[in-house]
Amino acid sequence: MRQAGRYLPEYRELRARTGDFLTTCLTPEVAAEITLQPIRRFAFDAAILFSDILVLPHALGQSVRFEEGRGPVLGALTRAADIDDLAVRGLVDRLAPVYETVRRLRTDLPAQTTLVGFAGAPWTVASYMIEGGSSKDFATAKAWAYQDPVSFQRLIDLLVDTTAEYLIGQVEAGAEALQLFDSWAGVWPEPALRRWCLDPARTIRARVRAAHPDVPMIVFPRGVGVLYETFAEECGAEGLSLDTTVPLSWARDRVQTKVAVQGNLDPIALLAGGDAQRAETARILDTLAAKPFIFNLGHGILPQTPPEHVRTLVDQVRAWRAPA
Ligand code: CP3
Repeated sequence: MRQAGRYLPEYRELRARTGDFLTTCLTPEVAAEITLQPIRRFAFDAAILFSDILVLPHALGQSVRFEEGRGPVLGALTRAADIDDLAVRGLVDRLAPVYETVRRLRTDLPAQTTLVGFAGAPWTVASYMIEGGSSKDFATAKAWAYQDPVSFQRLIDLLVDTTAEYLIGQVEAGAEALQLFDSWAGVWPEPALRRWCLDPARTIRARVRAAHPDVPMIVFPRGVGVLYETFAEECGAEGLSLDTTVPLSWARDRVQTKVAVQGNLDPIALLAGGDAQRAETARILDTLAAKPFIFNLGHGILPQTPPEHVRTLVDQVRAWRAPA
């Protein structure tokens, strides 16, 4: 999950020397090194490319920067005509540094470590593009979708096209699995969720499959509750990433019977450590680990998390065995 690096002293030390966050993402040598840091320490089964979902709006010509203590700040799209100003042509060239990072990683990672590429899902990326950054209620972006669904659809379609192209490019550079992050899927009523989140995910999944049938994709429709089951049935992904609130036995019976699941330790249980961390980890393993499962957090790791807690977690997960 995102922001893997910030809890590691070696990440903070490197970031202090590498300038702004977006430049760091687009400097292959540094981005590859940051991807490798947690692998060297913990030998995870998979490495997630170091980048950000907002690299795509940047490559589309939108202004994007990350401010200390404030998060991302974008030059917000405010009207339909702004969508037509997005620079779709030449996208591949502007994303070239990310592909170069993936290529380096394929050589630098241990052969048994799966390299996971990723992108933001269209709705989550569109929300940042319209709100101009993070948002509490997504009022501006959601109101646009309700008031002018035609132009909103145009933006979503543009993001479906470019995201599919971006993910295919990552596979061609060496990514072995893909994750699509729809971090803000949980804010919509059902019909809108289908239109702005489920349909785009299904289209992206189908396009990538047409180009590379063997590369699995995990979708993270965070916060969609019982509609996780619908995503499992309809979005076409091989795996779904469960957020922390999804009940485990329900996920086992209704979701894991259809697709692999990933998740969903509360990042704050990992920050807290001790008995609660151990008990929560055991509860997840005992409920989900016997069927297709990827242990992970239910959302991004917090920067204050002690690295020793991660060590304890990895040891516990590796020691787990299915009951005889
Ligand atoms: O885990 C990893 O390091 C892998 C790379 C990765 C990042 N962001 C690096 C990052 C991934 C997969 C992401 C995804 C991402 N980015 C999402 C979707 C997943 C999720 O967690 O919901 C979203 C919504 C973003 C947008 C984003 N990027 C925000 C809102 C912020 C600021 C958050 C904050 O608390 O400051 C970022 C910054 C960001 N992306 C950092 C990292 C390592 C922190 C940068 C730093 O301080 O060094």
